[in-house]
Amino acid sequence: MTETLDALKERTLGAIAGAADLAALDQVRVAALGRKGAITEMMKGLGTLALEARREQGQRLNALKDAIAEAIAARQAALEAASIDARLSSERLDVTLPARPEREGRVHPVSQVTDELIAVFAEMGFAIAEGPDIEDDFHNFEALNIPPEHPARQEHDTFYFEPRADGSRLVLRTHTSPVQIRHMLSHRPPLRVIAPGRTYRCDSDMTHTPMFHQVEGLVIGEDIHMGHLKGCLRDFCEAFFEVADLPMRFRPSYFPFTSPSAEVDIGCSRSGGQLKIGAGDDWLEILGCGMVHPKVLRNGGIDPERWQGFAFGMGIDRIAMLKYGIPDLRSFFDADLRWIDHYGFGALDVPTLFGGLAR
Ligand code: DAH
Repeated sequence: MTETLDALKERTLGAIAGAADLAALDQVRVAALGRKGAITEMMKGLGTLALEARREQGQRLNALKDAIAEAIAARQAALEAASIDARLSSERLDVTLPARPEREGRVHPVSQVTDELIAVFAEMGFAIAEGPDIEDDFHNFEALNIPPEHPARQEHDTFYFEPRADGSRLVLRTHTSPVQIRHMLSHRPPLRVIAPGRTYRCDSDMTHTPMFHQVEGLVIGEDIHMGHLKGCLRDFCEAFFEVADLPMRFRPSYFPFTSPSAEVDIGCSRSGGQLKIGAGDDWLEILGCGMVHPKVLRNGGIDPERWQGFAFGMGIDRIAMLKYGIPDLRSFFDADLRWIDHYGFGALDVPTLFGGLAR
């Protein structure tokens, strides 16, 4: 004797209610409604019944099938909600917990020194100018009075991009000097800007990395002369290195984009193997500078009969090494947490002239 529909219904609904998880629930579904399930088999048997009995039994079977499908859907929704609740409570995060102190970030010496020199130049009325890391030949060389066959091109160990359709090649800028040209072409004089940023040369040893940082300075006015250049750089060096009466010397030099040109050294001592900035019997070169070449002014759209100015360029990584006694430039870019813990700066110690540059 086969099971009655009522018994089948009671048994199946009981199994649905008792299914502990989605897999168990699916087994119940297959046993009742699957291809070989109890209800499916009964449906197949309808064909043997007489018309009247078939209609009556068919309706009862359909009602039972619907009731079971509905019970399964309800149980499935309940099981899914329970599993989400379980996951939420087992994976709970307390976002109000304070950060672990040993994970506090440090400011990289390059960022710190960039902020420090910006603080000093901002005090002197300089604004910040910017240019792209990827430059064209005109801005990086040509407009700075460095024509194609100029020997200065060899010194720059330039990274070149693949030639473009017209044969010209973009470069990774080899210095921040192209920002001078961009700034002159987009602003009317008088001008007083610094341009800190990344620069690139194909070179690597204790004191050179393929990517490094420079800061460019440009001052243009109607009566600017070499005395302004010297005074400005002296004020900067004394404030930046925090040494009063810092010995400085301006040595004659050559750059294609300035005339006359100079390199600047600051005094230091190396007694006992310790580098100390200030009075001593040694010198350290820290920057290049000069009066902006008339051709460069003209390339920047400025009339050299009316306007003159000075410019300078300085390696930021280099002055960071000098000021904070960091021996190897390559370590700057190793991303070693122990190094940044040792040489880094507190994130909330923003350098200002009135508060002290580095604390
Ligand atoms: N661009 C030069 C370099 O990278 C540095 C420099 C020298 C910049 C003299 C200047 C300057 O603006 O006047 O070596």
